Amino acid sequence: MCGIVGYVGEQSAVDVVVEGLRRLEYRGYDSAGVAVVTAEALSVRRKAGKLANLEKLLAEQPISNGTVGVGHTRWATHGPPTDKNAHPHLDVTDRIAVVHNGIIENFASLRRELEVDGVPLTSDTDTEVVAHLLGQVFDGNLADAMRQVCRRLEGAFTLVAVHADEPEVVVGARRNSPLVVGLGEGENFLGSDVSAFIAHTRHAVELGQDQVVQIRRDGVEITTFDGAPASGREFEVDWDASAAEKGGYDFFMMKEIYEQPKAVADTLLGRVDDNGMLHLDEMRLSDEDIRDIDKVVVVACGSAFHAGLIAKYAIEHWTRLPVEVEVASEFRYRDPILTRQTLVIAISQSGETMDTLMAIRHARDQGSRVLAICNVNGSTIPRESDAVVYTYAGPEVAVASTKAFLTQIVAVHLVALYLAQIRGTKWADEIALHVSELADIPAAVDQVLETVEPMRTLARSMVTAKAVLFLGRHVGYPVALEGALKLKELAYMHAEGFPAGELKHGPIALIEDGLPVVVIVPPRSGRPVLHDKIVSNIQEIRARGARTIVIAEENDDSVAPYADTLVRVPVVPTLLQPLVATVPLQVLACELAHAKGFDVDQPRNLAKSVTVE
Ligand code: M6R
Repeated sequence: MCGIVGYVGEQSAVDVVVEGLRRLEYRGYDSAGVAVVTAEALSVRRKAGKLANLEKLLAEQPISNGTVGVGHTRWATHGPPTDKNAHPHLDVTDRIAVVHNGIIENFASLRRELEVDGVPLTSDTDTEVVAHLLGQVFDGNLADAMRQVCRRLEGAFTLVAVHADEPEVVVGARRNSPLVVGLGEGENFLGSDVSAFIAHTRHAVELGQDQVVQIRRDGVEITTFDGAPASGREFEVDWDASAAEKGGYDFFMMKEIYEQPKAVADTLLGRVDDNGMLHLDEMRLSDEDIRDIDKVVVVACGSAFHAGLIAKYAIEHWTRLPVEVEVASEFRYRDPILTRQTLVIAISQSGETMDTLMAIRHARDQGSRVLAICNVNGSTIPRESDAVVYTYAGPEVAVASTKAFLTQIVAVHLVALYLAQIRGTKWADEIALHVSELADIPAAVDQVLETVEPMRTLARSMVTAKAVLFLGRHVGYPVALEGALKLKELAYMHAEGFPAGELKHGPIALIEDGLPVVVIVPPRSGRPVLHDKIVSNIQEIRARGARTIVIAEENDDSVAPYADTLVRVPVVPTLLQPLVATVPLQVLACELAHAKGFDVDQPRNLAKSVTVE
């Protein structure tokens, strides 16, 4: 949700900033803009639409050389995605430029105050208010002005600003929204995440809550909003710029789908000893804390929520602890029952999802322990949690979650088994067996990817479908939800996932001639009763004219007579089936969106990291 770049160094600022924006564009693509401090003043270019529009503008109206600048790629909140609402925003003197991610909740009263003072406001944004406030208090020190203004702001914000009168400095501030510093040689960077500067440095500093940072060519200074000296956590990024390139694929999403075997393997790496016992070093919860847990609550959004639903099956099965799973945006508003014995697991690829962040803050306020499952080092959710289990999916650039989702499922299994290990609810040899089954998953996912070609033909045949239903049982139900979400967000089709057993309680009325229905068939060996029931469900919908697309394990012949299209997946234990059954659905959504001529990596209205509530 909005990508921000700041640069001070010796290179051409416009080049560095635009390159950073290209890598951050997945965060929002409603408009883009840059401001560069030149010898005389600020040079600003901004344009509605994708970054390509800004690049075209820059080609027509180049910015003369400057080595200090800021940039922004927008996901619109206040005001439509027009040129005038594009960032950076300027104060009345045109000497301050500000970019912003988040929502300033008291902006209406601040705006009224400025109007009373006769300040002309030229955009609909909350951001412009900050530019004018900075202009009013600026007294030769931009960092100081930023601290004063931040103390007046409410809500969530990352702000980055430059002032023509202080041409060697870029100043940033953050509350509830992300901002990371990149440390270079004779140059320094600010970014919404490390991809903003990964082409230049892998050495980063994670800023804390309510901090202001000032970067110069030769130094970085961090303070609190009150001006007290502060520090951030330094870390090395464990991937390089090539990991965030398309690498020969047409879309990031397809590349990321094909990276899944490695992502799963990397997430397992180094966590299992020779005896098959788990070691989750980042857990930071003592064995005593873990034995103390009497309930688990999982909070997450979107695909991560679906991973959370799978967590319920795994954790309850292996630990016999009761597990609740809740969409993070609903969690804190219902006054959930939380105690010190409650373990709250927050799942988030980005580690910045505001709904999830607010949910964990609420949980910690109630005394519960929070364990984050997260993909992005240096992000807010792990920092504010008691423990973290990182997924090692590497950078996920496409807005649709694929490899992050699969690694989240792996991580929830690791956590479930670890809890079982410490609490003694499973014998060591049982845990070793399950861990070895997890270790077989990368090869199984590879096998799915080798046989996924028919999904492309299937996708092309579904271009005119008005709606698609997805049915599953047990862990196949979250897979059905995930398949439907992928289709909604990428192919803009009405798609719904249902537990197959619910069909007769209403959704079956939707079935009409030719309606595609994707059915995820549970493994026969796991719970034969579940398998047989879903085979009956397939027959019921087929009898009513549905076009059945059946995902079943490779040795399951019982479904063949009822499948218009049969998609085979390798035989794996029931609880692990989502790790193979989801993959064809990802390919289906990606190919269908492409066949319909939509932007696969940047679907309309969406942003990868949702940093507003
Ligand atoms: O970064 P997070 O995992 O917290 O993001 C949660 C959701 O916004 C995310 O999974 C979203 O639903 C994806 N676009 C789904 O493909």
